[in-house]
Amino acid sequence: MEAHCLAQGKGLSKTFPVKGQKKGTVLHAVSQVDLTIYEGETLALVGESGCGKSTLGRLMLGLLAPDQGQVFFDGQDLAALSPGERRALRRQMQLVFQDTAAALNPRCTIEGVLAEPFRIHRLCPREEIPRRAEALLEEVGLSGELLRRYPHELSGGQRQRVVLARALALRPRLVVCDEPVSALDVSVQAQMLNLLDDLQRAHHLTYLLISHDLSVVRHSAHRVCVMFLGRVCEVGPTRTLFQAPRHPYTRFLLDAVPQPDPTTRSQDRGILTGEIPSPVDPPPGCRFHTRCPYAREKCRQEVPLLRPVGPGQVACHFPLGEERSQ
Ligand SMILES: Nc1ncnc2c1ncn2[C@@H]1O[C@H](COP(=O)(O)OP(=O)(O)OP(=O)(O)O)[C@@H](O)[C@H]1O
Ligand code: SF4
Ligand SMILES: [Mg+2]
Repeated sequence: MEAHCLAQGKGLSKTFPVKGQKKGTVLHAVSQVDLTIYEGETLALVGESGCGKSTLGRLMLGLLAPDQGQVFFDGQDLAALSPGERRALRRQMQLVFQDTAAALNPRCTIEGVLAEPFRIHRLCPREEIPRRAEALLEEVGLSGELLRRYPHELSGGQRQRVVLARALALRPRLVVCDEPVSALDVSVQAQMLNLLDDLQRAHHLTYLLISHDLSVVRHSAHRVCVMFLGRVCEVGPTRTLFQAPRHPYTRFLLDAVPQPDPTTRSQDRGILTGEIPSPVDPPPGCRFHTRCPYAREKCRQEVPLLRPVGPGQVACHFPLGEERSQ
């Protein structure tokens, strides 16, 4: 069966003005990104802090307008929708982010938090709300007793579940999880990731799972998209990407995570040199060339486009595992 493309970004670019610098100075947060998210999958978006993951996530949800490019949800161009159509579509896409303290109103009980989407969107009669809120809590593995409590009376893991429960109230199809577990203890992280998997199966959810940590996504993601300085380096099935990364930057990231199998580690570990370039003045050609041990003249001049390599796609002039004689 052909996979259904649920959300698609085409040629997405986003810059932000930089304060305190010459007028017109901008920061290139996301540059010329194509991204396809298939219905029912978990696509992980990984890369170092500041590479543009959250910005891309917000662009895909229509929460930020791109400078260039288009976003399609279920084939519909977000920019071409009327405000009413956009509101209806927004319900199908939700954002869950790491900072639960900011996401939850401290003066609101958990019941109040969970009642909010039902009230705003008039999803059910008022008297039904407490029962629906309790059902949501149970769905994320929490007891209904927590309804009367306040966010600060819950553990970090419980709060993260409440944020997830609130997102589920609208029965979304796409959930962008922005660093959903990075604030949690390692043991709680695994439980949260398992819960995401269970909810995906139960509700046929599609996730864009954002993380700076590759080891977090290894067991949850079907595919992985690696970003560096606003651009996509590599996209591919998780297993292939972990076993045989084709982009030098992907391999660098993998070398930074503890590998259970030492034979999959590269020989020339720790070879990365050069400073992390600035998104205000990104290097020409391949943005990774100032740090890449394989950089050649072509890399300094030509932007490598994302192209099919093996089962995935790679944006590199000289992908790993290919003849390096050019
Ligand atoms: N609203 C904004 N105004 C100005 N600059 C911004 C804004 N949002 C993001 N940026 C900048 O854009 C770049 C990409 O930021 P983004 O938050 O998308 O990165 P990220 O990959 O999610 O990082 P992290 O892993 O730290 O969350 C960064 O240099 C950031 O400082
Ligand atoms: S294009 Fe060149 S500099 Fe960029 S990752 Fe590939 S080999 Fe390295
Ligand atoms: Mg982020």
